[in-house]
Amino acid sequence: MTGQKIPRVQFPADVRRDTLAVREGLPPSAWGENSEALFLTSSFVQPDAATAAARFANEEEAFIYSRFSNPTVTMFERRLAALEGAQACIATSSGMSAILLLGMGLLKAGDHVICSRSVFGATIMLFGREFAKFGVETSFVSQAEPAEWRRAVKLNTKLLFAESPTNPLTEVCDIRALSVIAKDAGAWLAVDNCFCSPALQRPMEYGADIVIHSGTKYLDGQGRVIAGALCASEPLVEEKFVPVMRSAGMSLSPFNAWVVLKGLETLSIRMRAQSARALVLASWLEAQPQVERVFYPGLVSHPQHALAMAQQSGSGGAVVSFIVKGQAAGGAALARSNAFHVIDHTRICSITSNLGDTKTTITHPGSTSHGRLTEEQRQAAGITQGMIRVAVGLDDIEDIKTDLQRGLGTL
Ligand SMILES: Cc1ncc(COP(=O)(O)O)c(C=O)c1O
Repeated sequence: MTGQKIPRVQFPADVRRDTLAVREGLPPSAWGENSEALFLTSSFVQPDAATAAARFANEEEAFIYSRFSNPTVTMFERRLAALEGAQACIATSSGMSAILLLGMGLLKAGDHVICSRSVFGATIMLFGREFAKFGVETSFVSQAEPAEWRRAVKLNTKLLFAESPTNPLTEVCDIRALSVIAKDAGAWLAVDNCFCSPALQRPMEYGADIVIHSGTKYLDGQGRVIAGALCASEPLVEEKFVPVMRSAGMSLSPFNAWVVLKGLETLSIRMRAQSARALVLASWLEAQPQVERVFYPGLVSHPQHALAMAQQSGSGGAVVSFIVKGQAAGGAALARSNAFHVIDHTRICSITSNLGDTKTTITHPGSTSHGRLTEEQRQAAGITQGMIRVAVGLDDIEDIKTDLQRGLGTL
């Protein structure tokens, strides 16, 4: 072992998070660039055969091959780890592949997982269908009822998985309570922090072992690339996840890493600005007669408002969901057609299921993000046909109100 390490940026010991967001990564190359370089290379030239052998054998830290190590990707990993307060991070090609890496790294046939019933639709499919093919059983429980999680624990429970707030119902889970249940069970707790990002919530401060990200959302922040990441302790990343990445290769491309790396520089100010606009919109929606219910953790009417405020830096995040009237009078069909009416009358909001963009997006979760679920799974997740999700961007919020009023006012 030569002990050679990839160098670190040197900071004063008390440097704060906002500074890390723009400077953590790698020291500049020999050319002294101020903006981080994009290393578009699939492999790295080694000085000689013996050094190559040492590096492939992990005796020396160096860049070898971009499936598992690339300087631009490393810069993103170090910066995101710093923001999450994690020792380490491993970047992945998408948010879903971060959850795939989580499962492949921690689980084996015969293991049991407890997962919130309200998580993103593809996450339910990954645990409930794909991992089940390999003999991993998942129990789905209520997001907001820690007692249900505790009751679901079995001798073979290895992982608890939550997302907070959830997509699209913005249900909040008590991360600290779940971390206690996980520790008692000898299991890991993983939290998908996609909706809040580390700018508002750092799950590890509440006892989570692993934080999952879809970098596609707020980390990029401008709807440009698909990306993901998993943050955890250094031993967990090195022992459980890096070997899987080397063999399975769900790696983040250097170009996409560069985009999300630069996105992290403005994450905090974007999140704060978008959340402030979302609160204005949610309060306005609550007062509209055509709206049956609004889901937004920043509203006092949200059942977990107090918990959300404590866990999410006093912010509700930037996603607002609401149900248009119709279900009571005409059932699911009328509710769905009313929701489509509101969506189709917008002229500014982008009709797309992505979120976390500076452009405000609008979607009908029941037929898009949660469209592949069975009706039973959708009902269990609380997704009704009258529901609309708005992911508030940096548009002037008065324009977004006018945009929604066009459809709501003609229902
Ligand atoms: C909460 C949450 N987690 C994970 C994902 C998956 O991320 P990706 O689309 O980057 O695979 C999404 C996507 O919408 C999401 O909303």
